[in-house]
This record gives sequence, C-alpha cells and structure tokens, in this order.
Amino acid sequence: MTPGPIGIFDSGVGGLTVFREIAARLPDEPLVYLGDTARVPYGTRSAETVRRYAVEGARFLLEREVRLLVVACNTVSAVALDALRQDMEIPVIGVVEPGATAAAAASASGRIGIIGTEATIDSQAYVQAIRARLPAARTLSRPCPLLVPLAEAGWTDNDVARAALDHYLQDFRAEHIDTLVLGCTHYPLFKPLLAELLGPGVSLIDSAEETAAAVAAAMGEARGAGGGHTFYLTDLPHTFAALAERFLGTPVRNVFQVHY
Ligand code: DGL
Repeated sequence: MTPGPIGIFDSGVGGLTVFREIAARLPDEPLVYLGDTARVPYGTRSAETVRRYAVEGARFLLEREVRLLVVACNTVSAVALDALRQDMEIPVIGVVEPGATAAAAASASGRIGIIGTEATIDSQAYVQAIRARLPAARTLSRPCPLLVPLAEAGWTDNDVARAALDHYLQDFRAEHIDTLVLGCTHYPLFKPLLAELLGPGVSLIDSAEETAAAVAAAMGEARGAGGGHTFYLTDLPHTFAALAERFLGTPVRNVFQVHY
C-alpha cells in the first residue's frame, strides 16, 4: 500500500461517526475527511446524481494523495461504490459490505431489518449483500427520512424522536426481527433509544464500527507517520462546529472550506 493518509468521504457531517471509529482504532493514522456539506443530503437524490457527486468528491481526496478511500456515507456506498472502484486505483471500502457481514453473523433467526435513507433502501444494496452472505435471510427494509434532520437537531432522545422511531419500528416488531442494520451515518446517535425501544432481543448493527474494523484489517501492518487530521467541507454553515461536535464527540480543528 502506498504511503499517505486515509481519505474518508461523506455527504456531510454524519460520516464523522465513521471517522470517530476509525480514529479510535488507528490512533496514529492521519485522516483526511471530506464532507460535501454544500450538497447534503444525498439520501433524497437520484442514484445518478449521487454517483456524480461521489466521483467528484473522491477525485478531490485522490489529489490529497490518500492511500485508501473510505466511503462513510451509506447512500454513496449503496449506489456508487462500483463507480468509485472503477474510477480509482486505490482500495475503496464502503459501509454496506462490513455492515451486511456483521448482520449476517449476528442474526440467529435470519430475520433482519434494515433502516436507511430513501436512496439506500431503494437501491436494495443491503438486502443483496445480506442475502449473498445468508441466503435464507428474511429481510425487511424501510426508509426513515425523519431521522437525519432529527439527529442534526440533536433530537435523539426526546418525545419527537420516540414518536418517529415508534412509527418506523412498527413493521419490524411485527416481523420479529432479531437484528437491525443502522444503514445511515446518523443512526448510531439513536442507538440508546433504539436499544430501549427494541429490547435486548434485537442486535443493532452499527456500520460505522464494522467499517472501522474493515479499514484496520485492510491496513494490515501498514502504518502512517502520525500527524493530525484534516477536515475539508464544501460549505461551512454557522452551525457546523456544534453539529460536528455532536457527531464526533470532540471539537473539530483544522477545518477548511473547499470548492472542486
Ligand atoms: N450520509 C448519509 C447516509 O449515510 C445521510 C445523509 C444524507 O442523506 O446525505 O446515507
């Protein structure tokens, strides 16, 4: 593997949940994050538009000489991973495959629920990846479009979040799933509430954690020279610092606005 930082691409700030897990696993590795905050959300857009945005973002990171591209965004991973792999010569790791592997391993009954953005659910990428690993799986997927704005507003454990989740979880309860894939960068923020509402019989698959494990495995013995992290954003709204801290858990430094 060539030297250079690990690149992490997301549609906005939600991918900081993936950044956080990778930084925890590989503390000496310099990470370069690109969030396309000027064009977020991707999850409501067509696959064609998401692919175009993804290739543009990935090329920007390639110019920063990243050795490996992590696609933190579930929507991009679901609809544009093949396009990115075709376009780039470095390894590209998305969040769908690690999440699907973990879900297939965690489920005893094969009844697996998947939640994500409209684009992710429409693509059936998680369903296909889970069935490839567990052919007998009985999957049920539902888009949860209100959860991204709720997470960004910091409403992850109040009456509105409870009402939204109660509504979204109805079908999954009726299907008696034993595993739920959190197929969106923002959903790990709802983990405590989801665990409470679904109870201990349902395993929650956090694709951020699973992807960090896949990145560590892909890095093998290769190690970076240390150094800090850099955050590139295509827009810097006044809410950015608070928003980023919500997803990362610590203040974000070394932030640059870019155009490409
Ligand atoms: N990052 C997106 C995802 O994981 C959520 C936000 C968006 O819709 O762009 O699917």
